[in-house]
Amino acid sequence: MSFQNLLIENKGRIQYITINRESKLNALNKATLAELHTAFSDAFNDPAVGGVIITGAGQKAFVAGADIAEFQSIDAGSGGEIARNGQANIFNLVENGNKPVIAAINGFALGGGLELAMACHIRVACETAKMGLPEVTLGLIPGYGGTQRLTQLVGKGRALEMIMTADMISAADAYQYGLVNHVVSQPDLLPKAEEILNKILLRAPLAVAAAITAVNAGLKDGVNGFEVEINEFSNSFKTKDLQEGISAFMEKRKPEFKGE
Ligand code: COA
Repeated sequence: MSFQNLLIENKGRIQYITINRESKLNALNKATLAELHTAFSDAFNDPAVGGVIITGAGQKAFVAGADIAEFQSIDAGSGGEIARNGQANIFNLVENGNKPVIAAINGFALGGGLELAMACHIRVACETAKMGLPEVTLGLIPGYGGTQRLTQLVGKGRALEMIMTADMISAADAYQYGLVNHVVSQPDLLPKAEEILNKILLRAPLAVAAAITAVNAGLKDGVNGFEVEINEFSNSFKTKDLQEGISAFMEKRKPEFKGE
């Protein structure tokens, strides 16, 4: 599958998805959003892919938001559809993926860009990255889950301050807020993301997927996260990987998980 706005590169079991609209600071236009849906669906279904690192082309931006130029001809009805479809097809898809997804934030992560990073399971930022939800400067609010995920990650007070002031925060502040997991220098950004993902890829893949499901469950309306955890814990006993993990421990060797 070839894309106009994405670069896809496999490095061992890691798949890099790079948003490649550098001249527009990798802003998410309709075409890019559609391609992201396809790319993530493919990655989650491809047994050769163990996990994904998503980043932006160039050194200036991860993603500088939804493509503002496309907002000119939108009414309330289609605005609602854009948010609903975008949330379901990309942001929720990434968050609920069966494989780990790490955002390598290489510059501006604004609006939909920060929302995309927040939908990922782990965020690593370079020291020069800037993050914010500037939608109110346009007369909008975040529509791709930003009001919810930012609040989950940094708490209500900081989320409301960031959203209402529209201020960008530094990578150092984002780290202090708990918005990003690590801050590193620009050259160390992808190596750090790879280091984390490679460690996860040594673990039992079905258990990693189950952990994503269980952690996410507690943040969903009407879902009892503790019950989902019990269910996922119980299902682990049906996997060959659990037998392998226990045998490897008993035999004092490293496990070789097959995702079965
Ligand atoms: N949508 C569409 N185009 C965008 C964009 C966006 N969200 N963000 C940047 N671009 C485009 C600019 O229009 C410009 O295109 P041009 O060269 O054809 O005029 C190009 O990317 C470079 O951006 P520019 O604004 O010239 O860079 P800068 O260094 O002066 O400023 C930002 C960088 C990130 C501060 C600024 O681009 C910006 O504020 N972007 C919008 C951020 C935003 O509000 N996002 C939320 C959208 S809901």
